[in-house]
Amino acid sequence: MIELNFTEGELPASGTLVVGIGAPATLGATATGLDKKSKGLIRRALEQAGGLKHGKFQELVLPRGLELDRLLLVGIGKPEGLSRLDREELGARVARKLEALGVEAAALAPLDGLELGAAPAAAAAELALGAKLASYAFRKYQTPEKDEAKRLGQLTVYLTEVLGDALAASVEAQAAAVARARDLVSEPANVLYPETFAERCRELGELGVEVEVIDEAGLEQLGMRALLGVAQGSARQPRVVVMRWRGAKQAKPLVLVGKGVCFDTGGISIKPAGGMEEMKWDMAGAGAVVGAMHAIAGRKAKAHVVGIIGLVENMPSGTAQRPGDVVKAMSGKTIEVINTDAEGRLVLADVLHYAKEHLDPSAMVDLATLTGAVIVALGHENAGLFANDEKLAGNLARAAETVGEGLWRLPLGKAYTKHIKSQLADIKNVGRGREAGATAGAVFLEEFVGELPWAHLDIAGVAWSSREQPLAAKGATGFGVRLLDELVRLAYEADAKG
Ligand code: BES
Ligand code: MN
Ligand code: ZN
Repeated sequence: MIELNFTEGELPASGTLVVGIGAPATLGATATGLDKKSKGLIRRALEQAGGLKHGKFQELVLPRGLELDRLLLVGIGKPEGLSRLDREELGARVARKLEALGVEAAALAPLDGLELGAAPAAAAAELALGAKLASYAFRKYQTPEKDEAKRLGQLTVYLTEVLGDALAASVEAQAAAVARARDLVSEPANVLYPETFAERCRELGELGVEVEVIDEAGLEQLGMRALLGVAQGSARQPRVVVMRWRGAKQAKPLVLVGKGVCFDTGGISIKPAGGMEEMKWDMAGAGAVVGAMHAIAGRKAKAHVVGIIGLVENMPSGTAQRPGDVVKAMSGKTIEVINTDAEGRLVLADVLHYAKEHLDPSAMVDLATLTGAVIVALGHENAGLFANDEKLAGNLARAAETVGEGLWRLPLGKAYTKHIKSQLADIKNVGRGREAGATAGAVFLEEFVGELPWAHLDIAGVAWSSREQPLAAKGATGFGVRLLDELVRLAYEADAKG
């Protein structure tokens, strides 16, 4: 990821300077100065191009004698005005353009005097964040080649007033948090399994997060037989990790819950071979929770938030759970395991129950790559949102809108709860075949949350992308990190209005 520097110093004397242009050809303070120095070069270029629309570029190579080597004009203005997401996505476009031009270090001129929809320094910080998020790539296992294309490594953001410490910290925290989630989601399952995942969670201690790891013996003692039933086919031991950020004195925390299936073969109900490698990212819910804890602690949010993740590997073996087995969850409910591939809900059943009984939540939000059915319903454009509480659902929808991580509400309800009735046990872990598969998963989870305000995000369609996204390259998206951070910001901080 590129490194950001914020400075109120003099503009650089060489290199590439990115200069924002208002719609359709309005010059801000810096552009006006540069235009004068260059005898009207910028105005002339814009006239010839007929102005610069939002997100469009014009590259100007400067003659010797002028201080800079190159100006990259970028259209900023939009008739309807800019949202925070517009500013972030614009930053992402700038980063991609600079990378395509082979620029290794660039500067962004002050945005003063332009219609930005925010104060110039704040807008510049958002642009910079977008640039940083878009420049993330997971290259850990690629041996660098000698003739490799140059990469954008540095963006220096010039400001006319000091960027507040809180804002700078929030930018860096968000970028590092999303990168942490993407790193976890990208790792192969021979490297990242429950024990090593739990070790990585301990790194959050550096940010002041209290991290507690519950090992297999501890899980046995707690009676988490639903989670342990999934784990029993694997040579890898399961773990549950509890991460607490106490940024406010309020007693009851917001609890974030994540599905951490480090690899999902399906177990005895084994999945087809084609595409099975994708199931290394069946821990993306847990990754998002770890990332969100990083974001929240990294900017020292004034909120009490606890993250809890259930880490297992779902494997077929001589010790694996069989279709038809009955397990007793920690809550006391008995579950008939019809399909060992519906394992995420078994893991979350015990983690949700533990959270409810031991963490005294004010509300719970779980994230899970739970069903293929949610992809059938919503594609890769939105995650499924299920909630038993209108206020929580509304706050999540607002946060989703702000950060551009789409949520679409799907139903819960008694009629669907009938789908998971079992002849043999209290409930079974599948619904009625292809009918409302994502809801079947959600109503199963609902059995373990009781009366608490709760929301479930089925992120199976959005955790990984085979296409480039506005703020992410192909691969792990980090979906959920900024959404949860924004949820805390708008509804759970000491001064929140939610
Ligand atoms: N991890 C999968 C869901 C999934 C599918 C995530 C595709 C990402 C991409 C989950 O554990 C699973 O296998 N679900 C089953 C449930 C079924 C057996 C009731 C599914 O969706 O087929
Ligand atoms: Mn599965
Ligand atoms: Zn799974």
